[in-house]
Amino acid sequence: MSELNPPRKIVVGVSGGIAAYKACHVIRDLKEAGDDVRVVPTPNALNFVGAVTFEALSGHRVSTSVFDAVDEVQHVRIGQEAQALVIAPATADVIARLAAGRADDLLTSTVLVATCPIVVAPAMHTEMWLNAATRANVATLRERGMIVMEPAHGRLTGKDTGPGRLPEPNQIADLVRLALDGHAPRFDWSGTKVLITAGGTQEALDPVRFLGNRSSGRQGYALAEVAVQRGAEVTIVAGATDKLPVPSGATVIKVVSTRDMADAVARLAPESDVIVMAAAVADFRPATQAGSKLKKGADDQSLARIELIENPDILATTVQRRRDGQIPAGTVIVGFAAETGDATHSALEHAQAKLQRKGCDLMMANEVGEGKVFGEARNRGWLLGADGSVTEVSDASKLAVAAHILEAVDGVGLPN
Ligand code: CTP
Repeated sequence: MSELNPPRKIVVGVSGGIAAYKACHVIRDLKEAGDDVRVVPTPNALNFVGAVTFEALSGHRVSTSVFDAVDEVQHVRIGQEAQALVIAPATADVIARLAAGRADDLLTSTVLVATCPIVVAPAMHTEMWLNAATRANVATLRERGMIVMEPAHGRLTGKDTGPGRLPEPNQIADLVRLALDGHAPRFDWSGTKVLITAGGTQEALDPVRFLGNRSSGRQGYALAEVAVQRGAEVTIVAGATDKLPVPSGATVIKVVSTRDMADAVARLAPESDVIVMAAAVADFRPATQAGSKLKKGADDQSLARIELIENPDILATTVQRRRDGQIPAGTVIVGFAAETGDATHSALEHAQAKLQRKGCDLMMANEVGEGKVFGEARNRGWLLGADGSVTEVSDASKLAVAAHILEAVDGVGLPN
């Protein structure tokens, strides 16, 4: 870590559920990014993971009681010094105690003192998560500004499945860093429907070959993550992506070709309040798709000369449908532009022309090529408005860029 980026003080609270072992991965992720991590388990958490493990991973002594190290007044000091606090896993019990403002162990008293961003990552059985008491407690914490993540769906401790699994440790750590960077998402998009395209489309040549691109889908999934944290109902129409965890509570519709993606967007767009097209769409497809594998020595030379035909432009079509009244006028449409500069125009100028051509409300533009952006965890560029405004987005995590884009959507005027 350079002197410009001193380690930030993060408190990781751990409560007593089976997912407590996953807290070790959260601690490690935060530590590896160079931050100073202090672990505050509840007494019950130590039934699952020993204090020695937390001490070894964090490099700090661990205690659970307000009566430990009283001379250092640590039940107050740890919370006062924290720049971010995360509780992972948060059981139904700890959520209830936080909602009630209890301070009956070191973790809850630390939370009561803290004025920094607080991320709560719940893990519990589905019935407990859906119980009216827990629903009310979660709503209370969100009203007070805490970021309560939606738990993941999936296999729980027993044979049952449903919402209640702890979100992936890297999703939790990313959200903590987002909050530290000043982009803590507010829970203000409850009832808002967000449609996001992500990843790259692929066009089949034959049963084994396709034309595609290097899109990882990371920026689209980061947008979905932030929209979920803001309380929105999120659908991702995903082409080919890296293996990425699905943001808790988001629905993913997998597609392969541009036309599949166009069909899915056409179906979902009229119901959406915000549409963000982060996908890298294949502009052309082979004129014919062979039913069996093409042979390189064959007479028809199909592999040597591939005839291409143009695909529909999903973004431009969606904007046109809004003009035609098939999509509500208030729907906000956001595009992306991956550009390279050339002899006559800069990447920014190309992006500005693209925004005009496509007619969307906002466009996130970035410069690509030579390993820039595709597949990376960070992004940078410009956020362009239909009014000609240009906001520079400095180098940041794709999650932070996503937060920035969705904040700009508020400026366009969301019906809320
Ligand atoms: N897009 C789309 N349908 C297409 C191509 C692109 O919806 N057939 C969307 C992308 O998801 C992105 C925006 O349009 O939001 C710009 O994509 P880009 O590939 O940069 O634009 P193109 O129209 O393909 O322009 P270029 O000629 O620069 O490739």
